[in-house]
Amino acid sequence: MTTPIPQPPARFLLGNVNEIDPDRFLQSLQRLEKLYGSIYKLDILGNRIVVISSQEIVNMACDESKFDKKIGLALVELRAVSGDGLFTAHTSEPNWKLAHNILIPAFGPQAIRNMFPEMMDILSQLILRWERFVGEEIDICDNFTRLTLDTIALCSFNYRFNSFYREKMHSFVDSMVNVLIESGKRVQRLALQQMLMIGTNRRFNDDIAVLHGLCDEIVKQRREHPNDVNDLLNRMINGKDSVTGYQLSDENIRYQMITFLVAGHETTSGLLSFAFYYLLKNPNALQKAQFEVDQYDEITIDTLSKLKYIDAVLKETLRLQSTAILFALQSKNDKTILPGGYEISKDDTILVLLSQLHRDPKIWDRPEEFLPERMLNGGFENLPENAWKPFGNGQRSCIGRPFAMQESLLAVAMILKHFYIDLVDPSYDLRIKQNLTIKPDGFKIKVRSRQHVK
Ligand code: HEM
Repeated sequence: MTTPIPQPPARFLLGNVNEIDPDRFLQSLQRLEKLYGSIYKLDILGNRIVVISSQEIVNMACDESKFDKKIGLALVELRAVSGDGLFTAHTSEPNWKLAHNILIPAFGPQAIRNMFPEMMDILSQLILRWERFVGEEIDICDNFTRLTLDTIALCSFNYRFNSFYREKMHSFVDSMVNVLIESGKRVQRLALQQMLMIGTNRRFNDDIAVLHGLCDEIVKQRREHPNDVNDLLNRMINGKDSVTGYQLSDENIRYQMITFLVAGHETTSGLLSFAFYYLLKNPNALQKAQFEVDQYDEITIDTLSKLKYIDAVLKETLRLQSTAILFALQSKNDKTILPGGYEISKDDTILVLLSQLHRDPKIWDRPEEFLPERMLNGGFENLPENAWKPFGNGQRSCIGRPFAMQESLLAVAMILKHFYIDLVDPSYDLRIKQNLTIKPDGFKIKVRSRQHVK
């Protein structure tokens, strides 16, 4: 006997489209979870979506012998810009395996350690800027977006967006944001409706051309003027699959470059923004984090692994606010039964809703509270399997995780070493802004210099 999966009442043709507010996608899914529980299904224009969020069910769905990443509707749309790059490729596409094999060492521990000077280079620009704005209002999310975009571009292909030297961000960023927003909206349109939106479609294609154009130009320049810079681009140009000897094509390198920029900057800037929000709302945690950095005269690559408390702050922040809000899976078999007797078929898109998984009351004591201590002293290592998944699952999990964690640890440590931080509006409570990822909305800070502190 199977158990029916709860579903809101569906409308003719449209199904449950009206249950989802595209501007408040996360909140829509959370609202439905409150109404229907840790598993429910939606019919979106004929596609069956199953949203899951208890650790027990997610744990089974993360079994890679039974489930694989699904390139769901949103990622299908994104393929217009990032093709068969790692993030949007089907696991079965040859270029996924090839790029995975070539890029895994490029994101390995030593390779990421070697990127420390570039990370510090861009971070120093943020610190210098904040020194100039002592006592003034700082839009922290905007600053972190500049930081993470410039860092990933410098480390990936030795390119400088110089975001800290401009009032407005580079036009590449506008095109990238437009493409992300439009891809999200496309998911909810009927094919005919989309076809008739001639102006919107033209703008979408123009924006994609801007993104491809810049990446293609960088690859061309590198091919014409090879160098021995230790960046991801050189690894992609020179890397070979150790088994087949195959190399990446220029087209695929372009898709990977866009993937790193898209997947790698908003997620990390959101993490940093939320981390500072929670630190400011929890003065005890802020004091502990600042005390930890004050133990070291200088923050070097070797200091980072010693910053256990700040590492716990980041992990706890990702629990409460996973900046990539979900990931999608599909069953490898025609039918699979999930715990509770819920039947899933191969065509279903299974969405793992991270905010609710990370608040499963069976796993987390006082789930709504920010308690970095729970991630310390073996707390993180002893979590039940698949209870904490902000970086996705298995072989399709985030290749950039070590990069993001090193960059974030360094940024939190250096900022706390240089500044005391206050909220501009002490009564500010978290509001969420989202497109592909989430970040705090309207979150402003003021800094005071700590330069007299050693
Ligand atoms: C995949 C989250 C930073 C590159 C993923 C996935 C998640 C995720 C959840 C799985 C997506 C899915 O299953 O559809 C995050 C978070 C980050 C972060 C929360 C920061 C806090 C980065 C950075 C990079 C990056 C810095 C690049 C340098 C990628 C790529 C994939 C991926 C290429 C696809 C991997 C594959 O399928 O082979 N990330 N990410 N991410 N991420 Fe990240």
